[in-house]
Amino acid sequence: MNKIYLWGVIVTAIMLAATGYTLIETAGGKKDLSEVLSGDIVNTLAVAGAVALVIITVFVVLKYVRQMQVDSADGELAEESWDDIGEYYNPIPTGWAIMYLVTMVWGMWYFVVGYPVNSYSQIGEYNEDVAVHNAKFEKKYASITGDRLVEMGESVFLTECKVCHGLAADGVDGKAADLNVRLAVTTVKDVIMNGSNNSLLGSENPMPNRDGIMNANKDYAPITDAEIDTVSAYVANGMSGEGADVFAGACAVCHGEDGKGMEYVAPNIATYDQTLIVNVLNHGKKGSIGTMPAFDRLNTKQKEAVSAYIISLSKGE
Ligand code: HEC
Ligand code: HEC
Repeated sequence: MNKIYLWGVIVTAIMLAATGYTLIETAGGKKDLSEVLSGDIVNTLAVAGAVALVIITVFVVLKYVRQMQVDSADGELAEESWDDIGEYYNPIPTGWAIMYLVTMVWGMWYFVVGYPVNSYSQIGEYNEDVAVHNAKFEKKYASITGDRLVEMGESVFLTECKVCHGLAADGVDGKAADLNVRLAVTTVKDVIMNGSNNSLLGSENPMPNRDGIMNANKDYAPITDAEIDTVSAYVANGMSGEGADVFAGACAVCHGEDGKGMEYVAPNIATYDQTLIVNVLNHGKKGSIGTMPAFDRLNTKQKEAVSAYIISLSKGE
């Protein structure tokens, strides 16, 4: 490979890194590039545009540098020479000369008056506007609680979640989780057999698989098949019926006596609560039923509202 292409790749990489850095800086409160990209479509397009510009620029420049290396010129040489460097009689085309001067003047204006470096960017202004709008939204809806919060949650559900979870939130024949019940037997069983690592506590904190769960006799042997069946039915049945002893022996250390979970240790598996639902929305979830995407684009209030709606479903309201 010609060395020049290697330089092209290096320069492209540096410019892309600088572009990424600038975007994160101007994207208001976003921590890394993936957050900028998943944030909203306008930022994604800005990144795509910037990447295209960098690549096109570098390769157009490369093309001409390459041409300078291989081209040979001909024509009539002028008399004078500078240290043996000659000059051809080629008048500068008038249009060219004018463009050159105009570009110089415009370039100076751009750097000094127009858009002094780093003081303004359209995408920065857009993100500021979005932040202002969000703050207004939050202020306007901050006082919504109770029934109105549930109603707001229902409309969020109908726009964002209905496609998979269905109008009645029953999971449409197993396409997604049935949100009218906390957990299905098959889900509980699958989690015990295989463990789970879905950031249900907000950060990675996996539940071990069956080999890491002690049986209810506490004789330091893993949980048995029979115990798994019993305890799965018990949890799916809303923490009632047979199996309370297995739960107390094998699960309560982490999930608590009542199954309502313990902060930083294990999530609530007895009922839906806001923490759990918000964590599912923030991180998505991969389980035995399928994959639930993360919903970063919902704001805090919308997440709170849709949680309130889901909690209201299992209360039969
Ligand atoms: C060592 C602690 C620990 C023990 C023991 C434990 N769990 Fe868990 N469990 C967790 C953690 C942590 C999570 C969250 C994992 C994640 O983020 O995906 C979890 C998640 C779950 C989930 C998934 C909830 C959902 O919404 O998908 C179910 C179901 C569950 N546990 C059932 C049980 C049962 C039943 C037992 C007893 C047989 C048990 N767990 C024992 C720590 C534990
Ligand atoms: C693309 C389809 C899809 C969309 C859209 C979707 N979900 Fe899900 N959701 C799923 C699937 C699949 C699961 C089951 C994951 C598993 O296997 O445990 C799930 C699981 C869940 C769970 C976890 C239940 C549990 O037991 O841990 C909650 C809560 C949830 N979704 C809420 C929502 C909300 C609220 C919305 C709308 C903002 C939504 N979902 C949109 C597919 C979807």
